[in-house]
Amino acid sequence: MTAAPPLSIILDCDPGHDDAIAMVVAARHANLLGITTVAGNAPLERTTRNAIIVRDLLGIDVPVHSGANRPLVAPPQHASYVHGESGMDGADLPEPSGPPASTDAVGFIIETCRAHEGAWLVPTGPLTNIALALRAAPDLADRIAGISLMGGGSFGNRTAAAEFNIWCDPEAAAIVFEYGGTLIQAGLDVTHRFQATTERIERVRVLPGRLAAVLTDLFVFFSNTYVSRHDDMEGAAVHDPCAVMALTHPHLFTTQRRHVSVEIHGTKTRGMTVIDERRLRERPGPNCTVLTDVDASAGFHVITESIAHFSQ
Ligand code: BDR
Ligand code: CA
Repeated sequence: MTAAPPLSIILDCDPGHDDAIAMVVAARHANLLGITTVAGNAPLERTTRNAIIVRDLLGIDVPVHSGANRPLVAPPQHASYVHGESGMDGADLPEPSGPPASTDAVGFIIETCRAHEGAWLVPTGPLTNIALALRAAPDLADRIAGISLMGGGSFGNRTAAAEFNIWCDPEAAAIVFEYGGTLIQAGLDVTHRFQATTERIERVRVLPGRLAAVLTDLFVFFSNTYVSRHDDMEGAAVHDPCAVMALTHPHLFTTQRRHVSVEIHGTKTRGMTVIDERRLRERPGPNCTVLTDVDASAGFHVITESIAHFSQ
């Protein structure tokens, strides 16, 4: 029996410590068609710079295209309180090898999804680029295999109700959750069960080479931030790789089919993903596969093995 070919994906990200890890897993276990960047954890110039640096450290021939420098409606807001001013503080980063392949991430997403029917979009930042692509090219909804995103959950981290990626650009998120095709949500319920404990980070530290050294330092910074900001965490929640692994390693996750919508108006709940848990027969049909649990030990092994693959 021949192995199934890897899934083709476009990773749309805002590196971001955990976005960097998502890049590694995607490069190892998927056919990574391209990396697109969006403003989120840091301003666009910084998330793009970080994406190029991680791409260079991986030594892969994958284009990086920069995209939206602000949300559709909301004012631009960033997360230096988690990721530092650079978006990837904590490591001695090399200079990027050059500029992005283009500044038209939306055009790249549209053209690539038309040329590669059945590709997956994997957004791990605010959903601005994806919403703009779906709005400019409604045919994408039928051409892609689906969207596997990191965002939302039944509780928030930026506010009591809203997770950062959705809170940053709720109007874009609403477009994506309503797009009508296959949708997978890696929200905080699952990502907070996937923590970079000290013991797990040490397994990265012993790997050879610059990539592992940089990622170890990024993990340490990210985890220190999480441990210091929470009552009850042993390390950073490694959010973004979950959206990749939901595709490449689906057996690691427990899921539920649910109807999920985005609150864009609430004064206390703007940016919340409203997951309909009612048992009423009149509830709307599911539009989303919600990840609810992960085999964290096996999942972290995938991360370590992916880093080791690029550390030979
Ligand atoms: C999400 O926000 C960012 O801080 C992370 O990169 C992740 O995508 C978690 O709320
Ligand atoms: Ca992110």
